[in-house]
Amino acid sequence: MKPTVIISNLGTNLDGPTHPQRWERWRPTVSLFQQDDLEPARLVLLHDPKFGKLADTVEQDVLSASPTTEVQRHSLKQRDPWDFAEVYASLLDFAESYPFDPEAEDYLVHVTTGTHVTQICLFLLVETGRIPGRLVQTSPPKARKRGHAALGTYNIIDLDLSRYDLLAARFEKERQEGVDFLKSGIPTRNKNFNALMDRIEQVSIRSDDAILLTGATGVGKTRLARRVFELKQRGPSTAGGFVEVNCATLRGDGAMSTLFGHNKGAFTGALNDRDGLLRKADKGVLFLDEIGELGLDEQAMLLRALEEGWFLPLGSDTAVHSNFQLLAGTNRNLGEAVRAGTFREDLLARIDLWTFELPSLKDRTEDLEPNMDFELASISEERGRTIAFNKEARAKFLSFATSSAAIWRANFRDFGSALRRLATLSDGGRIGLPLVKEEITRLKTSWQNLEDPSAQGATPLVDALLPSAKIDPFDRPSLELTLQTCRQSKSLAEAGRTLFAVSRTQRKSTNDGDRLRKYLARFDLSWDQITG
Ligand SMILES: Nc1ncnc2c1ncn2[C@@H]1O[C@H](COP(=O)(O)OP(=O)(O)O)[C@@H](O)[C@H]1O
Ligand SMILES: [Mg+2]
Repeated sequence: MKPTVIISNLGTNLDGPTHPQRWERWRPTVSLFQQDDLEPARLVLLHDPKFGKLADTVEQDVLSASPTTEVQRHSLKQRDPWDFAEVYASLLDFAESYPFDPEAEDYLVHVTTGTHVTQICLFLLVETGRIPGRLVQTSPPKARKRGHAALGTYNIIDLDLSRYDLLAARFEKERQEGVDFLKSGIPTRNKNFNALMDRIEQVSIRSDDAILLTGATGVGKTRLARRVFELKQRGPSTAGGFVEVNCATLRGDGAMSTLFGHNKGAFTGALNDRDGLLRKADKGVLFLDEIGELGLDEQAMLLRALEEGWFLPLGSDTAVHSNFQLLAGTNRNLGEAVRAGTFREDLLARIDLWTFELPSLKDRTEDLEPNMDFELASISEERGRTIAFNKEARAKFLSFATSSAAIWRANFRDFGSALRRLATLSDGGRIGLPLVKEEITRLKTSWQNLEDPSAQGATPLVDALLPSAKIDPFDRPSLELTLQTCRQSKSLAEAGRTLFAVSRTQRKSTNDGDRLRKYLARFDLSWDQITG
């Protein structure tokens, strides 16, 4: 056990008086030396020289109660013991000049005596570690017996420990609430998914670095991005708003100006100045959904805005500043896009700091049940009536949903649609077995129709440019490839040469541009629409 050193400020009221009956009174500083289980080796008595006589008495009484104790007196010059700055300065001088040796001694700082200002200052010095000790509080005895020394009790407060126990429990609770919030309160069971959400929660609240959410279509990237923002909003870190754009909808002058703004007259049709989304996101979050679809020029400008915090609006030579956090979503493999030359490697490196891949539903089948309950509860709320499966139907649906036959190709989009159809077709809010069987057949058929392996991939440009067109699964992949090629080419003819690279060599006359124009016309698409 290390020797104990008590640092106490002389209490001009409580540590008095000096007359002989004083032993019957409770005197906080002296009481610390009358305790059976405390044998302080030293008292450091802080006092104003004005109260030298009282200090003498306290010193004497401490020595008589505890003869092995050494008393050191330390003068504090304070004109006004209620003046915060003065009291703090004098105590800080003491703390800085005293030869503390926490390896060899245990320091207890007594905070029961002195003005409140003195007590607060001593607390601050201990709390910030300038006095390397713990606090000790004394309290008067509950009942007094005449003629007996008034001992009272003492209580040691270790700020480190109390902070640890209380705050750690509280932080853990807040953290858990944050994770639940990200998961919309759905009690998911998949270990990997839950670990991923824990990590996203930590990163979201601690950092403003870019976050990239990847994963197949419909796994919930867009929804999670909004939740991340809302979670950040609960803390102090985000002052601005949430600005969102799907990059597949941005092209040409329009793309630059939507993102970075323009000055009046920057291009035909630029009738007024426009701020752009980056500026709108200042102090907030910019969510670039489908960032893989962003053009190369926009990528370059975005990189600069991220690295330097400023960029040039179209037609302007005055740099604009914006300080935003970037969230990005993509279902494309951006590494592959870099190899194909459609995504800048330096931009990928910049946004790849925190990449989180959201798992597909078929890789977390144990979460389908809680998600189903959540979805049914929200549909019920939306429609103002309870919608539920009967027992058999529930078992049937879940067993199909978690089987390998259920590929949940578009993930939550398929899953949510299935539940919505069941809810709508249910009589009196009860979903029965026949409905479930019908739905299973419908899902299987729709997935079979898409089973053509070349149709497996996502078709973001087709989705963006022809959102409501009915296009055969057979046509989707080649149309997607065609649209991408057009966007990477300078002219229709150049795109045609790339797309018909093989067949053109076997023709007598080549008119690749014309061939391409006719193909596009089948979908009511023109070159300008695709690239402009
Ligand atoms: N955990 C979930 N439970 C139920 N529906 C969800 C969940 N996550 C996403 N959805 C819904 O699924 C659809 C697709 O989600 P979205 O976030 O747009 O996916 P992504 O951006 O990955 O394509 C949206 O209608 C969304 O509301
Ligand atoms: Mg999305």
